[in-house]
Amino acid sequence: MEVLSRLDQIVKEAAQEIKSASSLNDADNLRIKYLGRKSELTSILKNLGKLEPDLRPKVGKASNEVKRKIEQLLVEKNETLADQIFTHIGQSERIDITQPGDVRERGHLHPITQMRIEIEDIFTSIGFTIATGPEVETDYYNFEALNIPPDHPARDIQDTIWTEDGNLLRTHTSCVQIRTMEKFKPPIRVIAPGRVFRYEETDASHEHTFYQVEGLMVDRGISVANLIAVMKTMLRAVFHREVKVRLRPGYFPFVEPGFELDINCLLCGGTGCPACKNSGWNELLGCGMVHPNVLRAGDIDPEEYSGFAFGMGLDRLVMMKYGIGDIRLFHSAELRFLEQF
Ligand code: PHE
Repeated sequence: MEVLSRLDQIVKEAAQEIKSASSLNDADNLRIKYLGRKSELTSILKNLGKLEPDLRPKVGKASNEVKRKIEQLLVEKNETLADQIFTHIGQSERIDITQPGDVRERGHLHPITQMRIEIEDIFTSIGFTIATGPEVETDYYNFEALNIPPDHPARDIQDTIWTEDGNLLRTHTSCVQIRTMEKFKPPIRVIAPGRVFRYEETDASHEHTFYQVEGLMVDRGISVANLIAVMKTMLRAVFHREVKVRLRPGYFPFVEPGFELDINCLLCGGTGCPACKNSGWNELLGCGMVHPNVLRAGDIDPEEYSGFAFGMGLDRLVMMKYGIGDIRLFHSAELRFLEQF
């Protein structure tokens, strides 16, 4: 009868321990301890055959009851523990399904970048490729090769910032004209968008850092007519309408003849308003026929080839398209301005 009282004992011990188990893990360990392959109960069942024949059914029955009882206790314990866990999660991670969602703000490209991409698309669609050059340039590419020798007065109108080793922040994208002609031979059709710098007092229409798009087309028989046609094609695409242009003589040492290209004021249509200072016209870009000296600097024979070039302010183009009155807004931290585009 020793075994039977031991079985009673096992149920009591198990009940005690299961009651004080505080985690699902504890409960699992108790299952192994009391019902596992190495448990005392399992070994009693295994050794049934060694008992006196009349004891066997009694001990067998009692063992199975003990097993069922302990299983029952464990199931109940697991349920209680799981309940506690879910109640805890429910309280600490309560979700208010009526709360409005978080609005994720999405950024977008800067209006000047948008315009640059638009211009690139327009020109690539008419056979131009896109070239680039460094922002820190040599005196040679920024001035000398462009027909502006060291003491030339034209250097004064494009004052810039010099590095200690004698290089400079490029004052225009025209340097890319030379770099392109050095690498490619006519027919040449490129545009070169990029950032340029001037040593300049800033005001509503001047910045020390701004953006230009250079254009260069060199081939046999290129004339001012080609220049005007390309400019009008571009302006029609940018402004989605026919834009009237006019050429005025303009001085740039690297073109001859040189022009300032004005466009009909888009705000008043030419009758005069504050945006065009009552003139009906807005200055958009400098352009002209590539000077023979510049072609020579690019190792192209001016007797055989001619070309046109233009340099357009991207900032200014964006300002005209949207009627923006102050160039400094592009670099300001005023996000309400940028968010409009
Ligand atoms: N590089 C000139 C400027 O920055 C613009 C220009 C380019 C004029 C090409 C003529 C031809 O003012």
